[in-house]
Amino acid sequence: MLKSTLIAAAKAGAAEILRFFNNDFKISNKEGVNNLVTEADHASEKAILEVIGSNFPDHQVLAEETGEIKQDSAFKWIIDPIDGTVNFAHGIPLNCVSIGIEKQGEIVMAAVYNPHLDEFYFAEKGKGATLNDNPIHVSEETQTIKACLVTGFPYTYINTPNGPLEIFERFIRKGVPVRRLGSAAIDLCWVAAGRFDGFYEHKLEPWDSAAGYLIVEEAGGKVTDLEGNKFSIYQHKVLATNGKIHDEMVAVINNKKEL
Ligand code: IPD
Ligand code: CA
Ligand code: CA
Repeated sequence: MLKSTLIAAAKAGAAEILRFFNNDFKISNKEGVNNLVTEADHASEKAILEVIGSNFPDHQVLAEETGEIKQDSAFKWIIDPIDGTVNFAHGIPLNCVSIGIEKQGEIVMAAVYNPHLDEFYFAEKGKGATLNDNPIHVSEETQTIKACLVTGFPYTYINTPNGPLEIFERFIRKGVPVRRLGSAAIDLCWVAAGRFDGFYEHKLEPWDSAAGYLIVEEAGGKVTDLEGNKFSIYQHKVLATNGKIHDEMVAVINNKKEL
């Protein structure tokens, strides 16, 4: 019931994404210059919440546009109705629904669905990760210098030493490809699928990372903060890799090693 509801909820949200994609929709601004929210974000979230509410009316929710719905339940659904809204608003088909289910503080089930590519990623704690029902695994790359990486930049520039641009430059100067797709949930799933060897980002929110985190771990990868500490979706910094280049990426990110 939990799994079927999760799948139905992700598909209901994705149907709204497709209904609005490349059509007319209202856009408003959130905090920051290009931090957008569209009519489609609200429609997707509403559809997702309706599916969850009809099966599990007592479960808690943390959804990007609605915020928190606190209830007396061990379960919490953590929802990003469109991850990659800027892409969505520009007609770029790299955006998705991302839903993670937390039980007593631990993510136990996750779905990320990009309806444009019809790629449905799913993971259940201890049971592996799948893409369209086929098992997926992280890559085998053991050297960061040979890796293909992906990152994201926050909507508001982070002006601190060792910030996102400095770290980006460190990899780029050595010729390491670092992509920037614009959807953290897709970035994480593409690490899980072995397309990327590593992903890092400085300022993610729980709804960006909750589902992708479990999908990477269940595909055999590793997720920590940028210093290599135990990951929590409630802090902002994320490093997700195939596991094999993890320590080396931590060292480069923290300027303790030159590639
Ligand atoms: C954003 C995307 C992007 C990341 C931003 C997120 P949104 O989510 O995941 O890749 O760089 O930090 O806020 O706003 O499209 O849901
Ligand atoms: Ca997001
Ligand atoms: Ca979003």
